[in-house]
Formats: sequence, structure tokens, C-alpha cells
Amino acid sequence: MFIETVECPVTEFQARRFLIQSEEAVRAILATSATHALVNQQQSTIDVRALMDGAPQRREEEQQRTVEAVSAATQSLRDSFTAVQSGTFEIDSLGPVAGELSERIEAAPDVFLEVTRLKTKDEGTYVHSLAVSALMMQLARSLGYEDEAIRELGVAGLLHDVGKLMIPNAVLNKTDRLDANERQMIRNHPELGYRMLRQQANVSDIVLDICRFHHEALDGSGYPLGLSGQKIRAEVRLATVCDVFEALTSARPYKKAWSTKDAINWMFDHSQMFDKKLVLRLGSMFS
Ligand SMILES: [Fe+2]
Repeated sequence: MFIETVECPVTEFQARRFLIQSEEAVRAILATSATHALVNQQQSTIDVRALMDGAPQRREEEQQRTVEAVSAATQSLRDSFTAVQSGTFEIDSLGPVAGELSERIEAAPDVFLEVTRLKTKDEGTYVHSLAVSALMMQLARSLGYEDEAIRELGVAGLLHDVGKLMIPNAVLNKTDRLDANERQMIRNHPELGYRMLRQQANVSDIVLDICRFHHEALDGSGYPLGLSGQKIRAEVRLATVCDVFEALTSARPYKKAWSTKDAINWMFDHSQMFDKKLVLRLGSMFS
């Protein structure tokens, strides 16, 4: 299909006129913020009308594939968290899980977010973790990270909240205000997770740092150590931006889900805490 021009509120397309040679590429355009695309039928090598008529059906298929992938990943992650607790964890088992999530979010980011925003209390931490993992991989890809580094970030995203295993569900899912003791329990989860992961084999520094420091903030107001500025490595900043975005755009027992736009705007307004460039890049993926 030959595209003459794409109307889009954000600059997601470098070229104005281009040839699309796969259905995958059409799906990628459908998943962006593009409102209109002008197709040159004469220069196209496929029957454009037939392809566009099938778009709603493909979206449904994509949704179904994403629901299945998220459900399988949730189970794998649950098994991995249990293995971390029992000391039988093998980090390599999470590579394929991250790979599958990466494919799904790349195929249709909006469908992926739609699916992962639906969380039951019981699986909240798992679905949050795999959504953060997928967002991290997508953001890293858009920043030009190598495939291996992207996969490592994906695994780090899956494991970043493993310390929550040690917090009772009654505290994690509490709708009322937390008391000081409960707040402290929650604030301990990065350190608890770090200590658990440190005891497993082959867990890299990046995975450990993302687990331990994903609640740090650039202005030093985060926890557990109150690190600031350059002391927070780029991979951790990337994780933090995705973690906060996912939390804001999901419904929690104590709050409603925010829209993508509101979440990005709020984070941009708090750029003393978050890496502004990463917030903007994340916003451009979903606006
Ligand atoms: Fe966390």
C-alpha cells in the first residue's frame, strides 16, 4: 500500500510518502494516533479496500491474542515469584515471557494497554509488572537500545515488584488510608525484592538496581535511599517512568484509572522527579 500522507497529532512518521509492504505495518499505523491516511491506490501493490475492511476484525484478533498472552505471562510470572521465594528461580525462564510481551505491545500498543488495565486484586501485581515490562521494552526500543539490552530491561520490569510478595494482600489492596506501619511495609518492598533477587543465580546489576531503586526520584524525594540526579542510572529512570505511568493509568483499590494524556501531563508537570525526555518519549508512543 502506498501512503501519500498521514494525519497525526504527534510526529510519529518521519517520511510523508512511503510504501507499506506488510499487514504488520498497517496494524502499526492503526495503533498510532493517526486520524487519517491518504492511500494512493495506483501505486499500491495490494487491494487496499479489502485490507481496510478487515481492520476491525484484525483488532479483535489482536485483542484476543493479547488477552491470551497476558494470561499466560501472568501464570509464568506467578510461578517465577514463587520460585524466587523457594530459591528455585531460573531467570532465563523469563526471557521468552518478555519476548512475547514485547511482540504484543509492538503490534498494537493501545490494545495492549487496554487489556493490561483490567486487573483483579488477586493478580494486580503480576499484570502491573508485565505491563511495566512491556512499556519498558517499547520505550527502550524507541530509544535505540540493542535487542539484548531490551530483553534484559523486560526481565527487570517483570521482577521489579517481587518484594511485594512479602506484603500481605490486605495491605496491598487496602482502600482506606494506610497507617504509618503499613506505609512503611509498602516502602520496604524495593529493598526486600533486592535482597531476594540478590540470592538468585545470574541476576544482573541492572535487574537488581531496577528492583531496588525504581521508587527513587530525580529530586531525591524517593525511597529507599533518597538518591538524586545522576546517581540514578538511565535504566532505572526508564523503569520509574513506565512504573508510574502504568500505576496512574490503572484503576487501584483506592483510585480510578487516569487517561494516558492526564498521566503524561502530570508526570511532565512533576519533571523535578521524572526524566522529562523519557516522559515525552513515552507520551509520543500512546498519544
Ligand atoms: Fe514498586
